Amino acid sequence: MDEELRAWVRSARAIAVLSGAGMSAESGVPTFRDALTGLWARFDPQQLATEAAFRRQPQLVWDWYAERRAALERVQVNAGHVAIADFQRRHPGRLTVITQNVDGLHQRAGSAGVLALHGNIAQDRWLDAPRACCNEAVLADGRPPRCGVCGNLRRPAVVWFGEMLPEAELTAAQAAAEACDLMLVVGTSGEVYPAAGLASVAGQAGARVLIVNPDATALDGVATRCLRATAAVALPALLDGA
Ligand code: APR
Repeated sequence: MDEELRAWVRSARAIAVLSGAGMSAESGVPTFRDALTGLWARFDPQQLATEAAFRRQPQLVWDWYAERRAALERVQVNAGHVAIADFQRRHPGRLTVITQNVDGLHQRAGSAGVLALHGNIAQDRWLDAPRACCNEAVLADGRPPRCGVCGNLRRPAVVWFGEMLPEAELTAAQAAAEACDLMLVVGTSGEVYPAAGLASVAGQAGARVLIVNPDATALDGVATRCLRATAAVALPALLDGA
């Protein structure tokens, strides 16, 4: 590992990690902009991950999430998730994880205080504002659970295209981006805002911005340096022992 980059980590008072789907690629979780495989190859996530799609075809969207949830139960965190969690344990309060991922793998690796900007695929919430009758969903074999009285559906507690990000997480993420002196932008194409904008927020606040990605990204222009490497290889080399 480039000694200059390890010196950046050692000297950083506050580090922010902004992670995307590439963070979990070496755990076997397909990234968004990889071709969707198998049954879903004919769909574009933007066709499925919207409230309109869920209202139009609740079973299809529910099945897509059910398959992704089942797949996540079979994957393991990778050395990149572990390196971040271990660094947080050695240096409490010095590294903040901001993630676009809904897979919960940072949390599973032991990271604390993860700012999950796009929600968590393992959780559900009511599709419409819950009424007094919506106190428990009627689980229906394989169908989207619904309120037995008014039919209100349960939906995955993730941020769909066109939806607002959770305000508390976004505010905390912006504060972490402004306060850090090093931002590691790991495994994201940088195409989806406002998450992608956090790299510029950090850079404009004077932080060094290091992109960790085997490929070019839309954020390369705001990077101090780009490290053409994968998350599970680069992050242990950068963080372990620092
Ligand atoms: N290590 C690091 N980066 C990797 C790896 C790896 N092993 N494998 C792939 N990548 C990179 C790809 O080169 C790509 O730049 O990860 C990035 C994944 O980009 P996307 O698939 O666009 O995922 P992401 O940037 O997280 O998408 C952002 O868009 O679809 C919406 O809400 C969804 O959170 C998602 C958001």
